[in-house]
Amino acid sequence: MRSAKFETTKEFAAAQTARDPLLAFRERFHIPKMADGSDCTYLAGHSLGLQPKSARDYVVQELQEWARLGVEGHFQARNPWMPYHEFLTDPICRLVGALPIEVVAMNSLTVNLHLMMVSFYRPTAQRNKILIEANAFPSDQYAVKSQIQYHGYDPADSLIELKPRPGETWIRTEDIEELIDRDGEKIALVMLAGVNYYNGQTFDFQRITNAGHAKGCIVGFDLAHAAGNLPLKLHDWNIDFAVWCSYKYLNGGPGAIAGCFVHERHAQDSKLPRFTGWWGHDKISRFRMPQDFQAIPGAEGWQLSNPSILSAAALRASLEIFHEATMQRLRAKSELLTSYLEFLLDQDISKKFSIITPRDSANRGAQLSLRLTEKGREVCDALAKDGIICDWREPDILRVAPVPLYNTFSDVHTFADKFLAAMRR
Ligand SMILES: Cc1ncc(COP(=O)(O)O)c(C=O)c1O
Repeated sequence: MRSAKFETTKEFAAAQTARDPLLAFRERFHIPKMADGSDCTYLAGHSLGLQPKSARDYVVQELQEWARLGVEGHFQARNPWMPYHEFLTDPICRLVGALPIEVVAMNSLTVNLHLMMVSFYRPTAQRNKILIEANAFPSDQYAVKSQIQYHGYDPADSLIELKPRPGETWIRTEDIEELIDRDGEKIALVMLAGVNYYNGQTFDFQRITNAGHAKGCIVGFDLAHAAGNLPLKLHDWNIDFAVWCSYKYLNGGPGAIAGCFVHERHAQDSKLPRFTGWWGHDKISRFRMPQDFQAIPGAEGWQLSNPSILSAAALRASLEIFHEATMQRLRAKSELLTSYLEFLLDQDISKKFSIITPRDSANRGAQLSLRLTEKGREVCDALAKDGIICDWREPDILRVAPVPLYNTFSDVHTFADKFLAAMRR
């Protein structure tokens, strides 16, 4: 359906909701409730995804196995804990477009980003710069700056920050390409988001990776806002590494076990320096407790510790749902839902807010970021009173994400209706 066919009425939203082929998936999630017991309008899946109802069973099963078996659960549990993270491998591969040797569930996002930079940020006097968005998520900024300093360089010289052109709100791919073409020989690492957390823009993975590789740079992505939001082809795009968290679109729960991708071509490279731990050591000899480290080939070789089984269990529940829904169907619905939100917001001509996210579906995921010129906090508080959960980023950004697994056209309509009413007041 084209936006030209959208209509502003509540009845239209209800009819679209009723004919949504993915509607049944909403029933598989716990939707937070208002005081009167009715559903909140939850549009914050870009921040924390909702709990799949099945997550409880997956977690309780491992609690029961722990009670029943104690330490023997590592081998004798119905889903033995020793290889438990491997149960996540195939679902993750399908989500991010990777080979089994290329992915692993481990740690949390920023930890994985550091582990990747230990191996892939190898600055030299001639080539020591990192390219990142100026408005990258602060944790990424802190991580790259600390890596630069750790190697004895100064972020003031070694960090290149990408900004939109004056008067624009998102970064153009051709500007990134031009910068890499000009300065690429000094850039050690191109490290961008898949979807920027602030303005919701996506980056052109293929073009940026090609541009970086043409100049001999390593190219990595932070997929915190892309995993479970966009169909991804990390292997085919030839990206060197990627990291992501699992608590946003992946619905793995607060602080969920994160993900990491290392391209196959690095899998057997024993010369890559890395920080090591026993869980990355060869599985056959691990319990012979050898003194010398021998990496498992591929992404698993970057593991440090045995993972949290309870967290991995909750994530398994969610990934099963993704398997059923498929990323292709989710993305098709997501494009429609976000375009519908945009259409409803565009009905307002007050100019009291603007959409800073790209207008073209190809350049964004589920999220729209709205810049409010006045009364932002008040509007946000008014929405919260109406049971609408989205989020506020100081000083003036409201982020709203209709998530195709559990949001409906009616949710989008309710938000737009209440938001525009609050803006008019
Ligand atoms: C883009 C991005 N990078 C990094 C992080 C930090 O994640 P973690 O606390 O899991 O390391 C977040 C958290 O929201 C994020 O949105």
